Amino acid sequence: MTAKPVELTPNDWVQDRWVDLDSDPGFHRKEYSPVLLKYHDVLFSAGKTGKVFIPLCGKTLDLIYLADQGHEVIGLEYSKGAIERFYKENSLSYTTEKLADAPFVLYKTKEKNIKLYQGDLFDMKPQICGQFDASFDRGSFVAINLDDHKAYSDLMSSLVKPGGKILMESLSYKSATFGGPPHSISKDDLTHNFTAFKMSTLETFHTPAKPAMVVEGQKMVCDVVLLVRM
Ligand SMILES: C[S@@+](CC[C@H](N)C(=O)[O-])C[C@H]1O[C@@H](n2cnc3c(N)ncnc32)[C@H](O)[C@@H]1O
Repeated sequence: MTAKPVELTPNDWVQDRWVDLDSDPGFHRKEYSPVLLKYHDVLFSAGKTGKVFIPLCGKTLDLIYLADQGHEVIGLEYSKGAIERFYKENSLSYTTEKLADAPFVLYKTKEKNIKLYQGDLFDMKPQICGQFDASFDRGSFVAINLDDHKAYSDLMSSLVKPGGKILMESLSYKSATFGGPPHSISKDDLTHNFTAFKMSTLETFHTPAKPAMVVEGQKMVCDVVLLVRM
């Protein structure tokens, strides 16, 4: 038996995960993503730089890592508190601009090539932020509601340039009691949704899961996939 998937609105994330900004929201890493470190040169061939999108970025340190590799980094996050914590915890100054034609506040810093849009992912479009050479998705596709999968893949198809790449950490597990997020995603879910992309699996490994998440004896599987926009 599989648990019924839990659906969250962006405000639920703010009230549930980001209400106490001093506590761990449950997914933040205090180090760069090992997957990003390992596969950075697959996302950008060695020495090349470009414009990279981090959807649903929280306050991830991966923004810093990518900027330090010379990329133009654009993140998007609904929680204003998480964004402001990112700047504070990394000792970066920032300015804000409320966009006139779109429901976003744009955060910029002089010290790093990082811009963050505060707002709902599903209001984003290429006319606002342009298109990207690459995207790193850790905890995004697995976090959104299952009913939004098609809208997410359509959005990414419009934001990632032809030939551009998405590096994604996708999770799968069996649970009778835990309805996500993170949701369990199969390779079929990915190929079914990301029809504008070619998909290859770079690596599959088992990763520890919180006890509540998996049926006894089962482990959570992480598939590292590369999606290349056709
Ligand atoms: C699982 S966390 C992943 C955070 C980050 N990628 C990381 O690795 O730490 C998902 C994030 O998405 C944000 N979020 C959820 N729905 C959103 C939406 N519709 N638009 C923008 N942000 C959203 C949440 O506030 C949360 O910070």
